[in-house]
Amino acid sequence: MFELKFQSFGLGQWMHHPFRRLGGLVALIGLSLGAAVSAEPFRLQTPQGVIEVTALRPDIVRVRLGKATLPVDESFSVSPERRHATSPLTVSHDGNLVVLTTAALVVRLDPQTLKMTVLDSSGSTLLADADDADVAFRGQGFELRKHIPADAHYFGLGDKTGGLDRRGGSFTLWNTDAFLFQDYSDPLYKSVPFVLSADEKGHAFGFFLDNHWRTRFDFGRSERDTWVIGAEGGPVDYYIMAGPDPKAVVSAYGYLTGTPPLAPRWALGFQQSRWSYPTEAEARAVAGRLRSEHIPTDVLYLDIDYQDRNRPFTVDKAAFPDLAKLVHDLKADHIQLVLITDLHIAAPNDPAYLPFTSGKAIDAYLKDGAGNDYVGAVWPGPSVFPDFSVKTVRTWWGSLYADFVRMGVAGFWNDMNEPAIFLTDTKTMPLSVVHRIEDAGFSPRKATHLEMHNLVGMLNSQATFEGLLKLEPDQRPFVLTRASFAGGQKYAATWTGDNSSSFAQLNLATSQLTNLGLSGFAYVGDDIGGFAGAVPSPDLLTRWIEIGAFNPIFRDHSQKGKARQEPWVGPPEHLAIRRHYIEERYRLMPYIYHLAEENSRTGLPLMRPVFLEYPQTLGRLAGGGQPDFGLGGPFLFGPDLLVAPSATPESPGAYQVVLPSPGWYDYWTGERLAGVSVTEVPRLDRLPVFVRPGAILVKQPLTQSLTETPQGPLEVHVYPGPDCHGELYWDDGVSYGFQRGAFLRQDFTCKSDATGLSVDLGARRGAYVPWWKTVQVIVHGKVAGGVKITVNGRAAPARFDDASQAWRIDLAGDAVGPTEIKLMATAP
Ligand code: NOJ
Repeated sequence: MFELKFQSFGLGQWMHHPFRRLGGLVALIGLSLGAAVSAEPFRLQTPQGVIEVTALRPDIVRVRLGKATLPVDESFSVSPERRHATSPLTVSHDGNLVVLTTAALVVRLDPQTLKMTVLDSSGSTLLADADDADVAFRGQGFELRKHIPADAHYFGLGDKTGGLDRRGGSFTLWNTDAFLFQDYSDPLYKSVPFVLSADEKGHAFGFFLDNHWRTRFDFGRSERDTWVIGAEGGPVDYYIMAGPDPKAVVSAYGYLTGTPPLAPRWALGFQQSRWSYPTEAEARAVAGRLRSEHIPTDVLYLDIDYQDRNRPFTVDKAAFPDLAKLVHDLKADHIQLVLITDLHIAAPNDPAYLPFTSGKAIDAYLKDGAGNDYVGAVWPGPSVFPDFSVKTVRTWWGSLYADFVRMGVAGFWNDMNEPAIFLTDTKTMPLSVVHRIEDAGFSPRKATHLEMHNLVGMLNSQATFEGLLKLEPDQRPFVLTRASFAGGQKYAATWTGDNSSSFAQLNLATSQLTNLGLSGFAYVGDDIGGFAGAVPSPDLLTRWIEIGAFNPIFRDHSQKGKARQEPWVGPPEHLAIRRHYIEERYRLMPYIYHLAEENSRTGLPLMRPVFLEYPQTLGRLAGGGQPDFGLGGPFLFGPDLLVAPSATPESPGAYQVVLPSPGWYDYWTGERLAGVSVTEVPRLDRLPVFVRPGAILVKQPLTQSLTETPQGPLEVHVYPGPDCHGELYWDDGVSYGFQRGAFLRQDFTCKSDATGLSVDLGARRGAYVPWWKTVQVIVHGKVAGGVKITVNGRAAPARFDDASQAWRIDLAGDAVGPTEIKLMATAP
């Protein structure tokens, strides 16, 4: 380890300090001669504090700082394997400054003040301290103050409201039951202290504060050009990710805190929920109606009223006489049941309530100051709360799912886990409540709720996820959580909580969901139609379903007491539009599923702000438009689809969509657009969606659920343009067979030259045998004149479809081996 003690302020004295032993000596010799390279952490001790800088990879540097000693090296978000990864760091000096260099980052550190500047390898400053120190310790907390450059924008922080760009805002990270939140509400349900900063040239870097206490991120709101990061306690432990572009930052954050595991495919289908479908008969009726109306659906939820007196892990036998049969019958109809299982365990004096007594037997519950089980009121009345930072408690919690899993219940919903407590001003438990930390990688200790609050939701969903995996090791768990923390994406999907039915909230959701995606949470959605507030108008529900069809999690949910808002509610012409959009999502599933698989490897979200793929749009958009950092507006669904709702959806006025480059296609008509600006006149049945020129999208025939086998060919849709490529990923959709080789991958490319267009389907890789027997290639964009089409050099049957202005070419088989399709113009 490079360890320097610095007790006096001149470099000469530093050079002569007795700490010239072992690594220290190497460092000093290195410094005096020029530079020394080490894969070890660099440490410096001064009267201002002790600092450690480590390179995990050339593009990720970790900084830890303490007043007298370094903070304990523990984390709930970053695994030991990641934290202890090392990459070479060159130590040199420049005048009085210590300079730490990797291939991608340079840290310039003033040993007198610990003031720090981080630059990229080209010498551009990424992050500079605003004052003459890196950190100011305040009580048991601290504050970091960084300079905000003129053209900097800030993204991330999870589901915070207030537009896409965080600049000018101030946010508190403190998980909160934010019922009926509005566009100014803060804090909300989740806390993700990760920030993606990008300037108007598209250069980006990431900042992750690995501290789960209550923190505050102020992006120039209190002081115009100062970014203040404050924590009430806990370690100064942060990571800087070099980028240089936004995608690289998001992937680096995924490397650090983990990427979401591939979800069961059915979770990407349409999900119908309601607080509540209170009886078995009603649940059956809803499922039946979804099927009879031909609304493709994969999931039905049961909210708290299926339980006996709101007690988690029970069933109200009067309302649900045979839950197992309901689960079975729905599955036979290709609908998966998801059950809510809140974390508060009812605390009745009832020896028959096993979840309580079995937890009590292992001392599973959080304690009040006097050492008794802390009791707070939630849905079941007085309740106790599992201490999820104890591994044995998580194991016990996981075992509570055994009966439901045996019945075939497919997924679980962890709600109220901020944790929400009724009848309190703070909406949560007293900060003095005592947690225990007992887990591998941590020294056992007690911790107050003040410290542990933000972790409860994530640890709750971790316990659920790991418990389900233990019960069914070869089934991908599906968990939906409301609260979470950085890294929680490894365990659960999430939604934005109790929104309300208004166009303003529909707009707000886009920036919430895209920021969640940038913050690691790829499986995100909102309550389609709005949870609370007034009943959505038919137009609002229709628009919400249209946009939701292009969100990662697509769940219609509403509050008790409100009129119903399933897709069939309202005038029949609305149902037709809603059905059409839900159907289109089902057709697009090979594309969507490939995005999910890519996300599991790279951390790149499914739903993306436009700048993630086109960082140059952070400056001026091509065509002269300003980037849209407000609420609503366009977003990308994967790299290839631009979804462009009006930013003022209640207005009938025309609006401009600015495309990132020329030549995009209209997804619905197949028409190729010449310019970069499109005028859209709002029409209820049209959500403008555009396809990247050069995209190859894979689609499948319509089914009513994703567990049904489609009938017909797999469709490969080619949209000629630059950088033309597409990918297919497929597997059984539910198991981990893909980790044992049972997957299928295929890459597609296209190329245009003077003679025409060639489309190459690469050979299939992987052992999975999919459902399709034939492949149809659909080439969009009108090819002028006559066209001669060959497949692997032989003339092939093809037809030009006037409606979609596309060539449809049926391949003889399922394109297992490499296949080349050529379209050659035969006449001008
Ligand atoms: C609060 C959740 O946010 C909401 O979605 C749910 O319906 C209610 N709790 C009742 O469980």
